[in-house]
Amino acid sequence: MIRVGVIGYGYWGPNIVRNLHGLESTRVEMVCDKSPSALARVRKAYPNLPSASDPLEILRSPAIDAVAIITPVWTHYELAKMALQNGKHIFVEKPFTSNSAQAQELIELAARKKLTIMVDHTFLFTGAVRKIRELTEGGALGDLYYYDSLRVNLGLFQHDISVLWDLAPHDLAIMDHIIKGQPEAIVATGEKHLNGVEDVAFMTIYFPRNLIAHINVNWLSPVKIRTTLIGGQKKMLVWNDLVADEKIRVYDRGVQITSGEGIRDLLVSYRSGDMWAPQVEQMEALHVELGYFADCIMKNKTPFNDGQAGLRIVRMLEAAEVSIQKRGELVRL
Ligand SMILES: NC(=O)c1ccc[n+]([C@@H]2O[C@H](COP(=O)([O-])OP(=O)(O)OC[C@H]3O[C@@H](n4cnc5c(N)ncnc54)[C@H](O)[C@@H]3O)[C@@H](O)[C@H]2O)c1
Repeated sequence: MIRVGVIGYGYWGPNIVRNLHGLESTRVEMVCDKSPSALARVRKAYPNLPSASDPLEILRSPAIDAVAIITPVWTHYELAKMALQNGKHIFVEKPFTSNSAQAQELIELAARKKLTIMVDHTFLFTGAVRKIRELTEGGALGDLYYYDSLRVNLGLFQHDISVLWDLAPHDLAIMDHIIKGQPEAIVATGEKHLNGVEDVAFMTIYFPRNLIAHINVNWLSPVKIRTTLIGGQKKMLVWNDLVADEKIRVYDRGVQITSGEGIRDLLVSYRSGDMWAPQVEQMEALHVELGYFADCIMKNKTPFNDGQAGLRIVRMLEAAEVSIQKRGELVRL
């Protein structure tokens, strides 16, 4: 049984507390939030659960094995560092830290203290992404050509980070999980319209072997869209995360260049076969992920969404930010 203290009970924190509560392998010992209204919500939802406004009550408690840090990004590093220094395993929200130096330092500290870091890359635990990974790993799509994602909605505006740091980590973590090989270069563009941080951004990522990825993130969209296209040499898929049924549709479609010596003689044939919608598991992602967190700690296993995974995502975000500042210049990784 892993005894967890949760810091941050704003928008996302309640989901963490509820899921930890529902697991056999974890127990929530205390919830902390510096906001009195957040603490009032904790007390209403869990009248018997201790709560505190000072994170030190969790960080220094001998009755706590692990700390979940569900606060804004700029606070992750300090809280995570204190938790590790006090011998606690950590579950940290995405993006892991505000920069790669901080991530690197936390990774080294955790290694020295033999503690687990898990970064909440929630999507990796959804039925949809697990199915997509199964399809790509198993070779069903063939060599990948592209990953193209549209992740847009109206808000929620964050105060400390841009839309890129808020929404792109989801796609970057998914790519990091399903694509073999590290990205080589990034081009990003974006604009600020309202509060001094980019609220619309576009990112192109170059991977080895002609694999290209594109992410469109936007807080100023009138409608919410969560659609990703993944094209492979053998098959292509469309993942619409907002529908209840047939979230993933796999198309047996493709293009083949059959012959031709010069460009004018090319024979292009189009394959237009069946579409099928694989079964996607419905289990709540955070339930699976937090169960895995406890399991990794108890069995001393390194999670695949560890500090290194968090660092890889932060590095891509940093590169994208540099590219945005240079209005779309190519930044090598
Ligand atoms: N994995 C996901 O899908 C997902 C979804 C939403 C948010 N998030 C991440 O969760 C984190 C929090 O986001 P949110 O939308 O819940 O933010 P939020 O602003 O709604 O909530 C953050 C809470 O943390 C509290 N807090 C801040 N600093 C604190 C401190 N030092 N000590 C104690 N309490 C403190 C605030 O009072 C607030 O209640 C961010 O890193 C965000 O990127 C992840």
